[in-house]
Amino acid sequence: MIPSVLPTYSRAPLHFVAGTGTWLVEEDGRRFLDLGSGIAVNALGHAHPALVAALTEQAGKLWHVSNLYEIPQQQALADKLVARTFADTVFFTNSGTEACELAVKMARKYWYEKGAPEKTDILTFAGSFHGRSSAGIAAAGTEKMVKGFGPLLPGFVHLPWGDHDALKAAVSDTTAAILIEPIQGEGGIRPLPDQCLRGLRALCDENGILLILDEVQCGMGRTGKLFAHEWAGITPDIMMVAKGIGGGFPLGAVLATEDAASGMTAGTHGSTYGGNPLGCAVGNTVMDHVSDPAFLAEVNRKAGLLRQKLEGLVAAHPDVFEGVRGTGLMLGLRMKVAPADFVAKGYESLVITVPAADNVVRLLPPLTITDDEISQALSRLDAAATAIETA
Ligand SMILES: Cc1ncc(COP(=O)(O)O)c(C=O)c1O
Repeated sequence: MIPSVLPTYSRAPLHFVAGTGTWLVEEDGRRFLDLGSGIAVNALGHAHPALVAALTEQAGKLWHVSNLYEIPQQQALADKLVARTFADTVFFTNSGTEACELAVKMARKYWYEKGAPEKTDILTFAGSFHGRSSAGIAAAGTEKMVKGFGPLLPGFVHLPWGDHDALKAAVSDTTAAILIEPIQGEGGIRPLPDQCLRGLRALCDENGILLILDEVQCGMGRTGKLFAHEWAGITPDIMMVAKGIGGGFPLGAVLATEDAASGMTAGTHGSTYGGNPLGCAVGNTVMDHVSDPAFLAEVNRKAGLLRQKLEGLVAAHPDVFEGVRGTGLMLGLRMKVAPADFVAKGYESLVITVPAADNVVRLLPPLTITDDEISQALSRLDAAATAIETA
């Protein structure tokens, strides 16, 4: 008999009932160190007092009004994002997938309004992940995601990862945009080198096409900058954001320049919940914390500490690990054993990690992780590696 919850996930037998900071409490009382943050969502950890206060205060006043009306909390968050980024305008969604939908629509509408309706193609890359909607799976194009779900949304051109010649050859008169994650998350913490991101920007400028960055997983302070593309010193035309921006409340956003957004006039897009008062009350508080230069400096310092300790872990277990990669607190352990086996041993050692493609185990701790917790994380990861070696 089919379970009452549609069985699209193979779930670990863990029932978390509470969380504080970097810790998750299981029903049986065990305390797990959370190096997954719900896949890069709990940027400020679990039950951060400022987020609890923002949520409960707003909940006592007004949960929801339609986007048919002005929403001051939404306006405030949009103003903050515009002030701190390349963007001139923001649309709020509930998720990264919905941000992908709008990014694709915005790029196509841009060219339609510019009198080039033939420009509908979006170039995407192997190993990418942009969500599970029809546009999201068509964008990624991997067999695992698209098999059986056809006919797929047309207009996506899939390119190999890191093949500059293939990319240049793929640009044509029908190209609307390039869509890419500065650091692939689901694809296995594969960072795009800064010079490649600069090269992509130059390619877009030379050919007059739009650059869409998917910062759903790597954005909101995760890499030690507010957004990952800042490391390369370039800016996109359109950017997808989600996960960390809500700190656990479902919230996403599309940020864009005035020019890129010029086709999106009244009535061309909408959302019932996107940017509602409750979500934006939380989003504003996350943004106030994460965009603080002192907070980001701490993320970078702690990332250095964690990275250094992970290099030691890899050296101590050469049969388990191949290396460490990633930026800031978005790190991947490339494995010589099955990632799922290591993640399972981690559960036995009371540490949460997240598997990814390309034989990688992801470490995406809350950005508020402490030095002491980093030390505890290493002991637990070390115990998991030893358990694999002695199994
Ligand atoms: C890079 C990236 N884009 C888009 C998405 C989809 O976001 P959501 O699951 O919030 O719809 C994800 C989710 O993992 C992601 O990592």
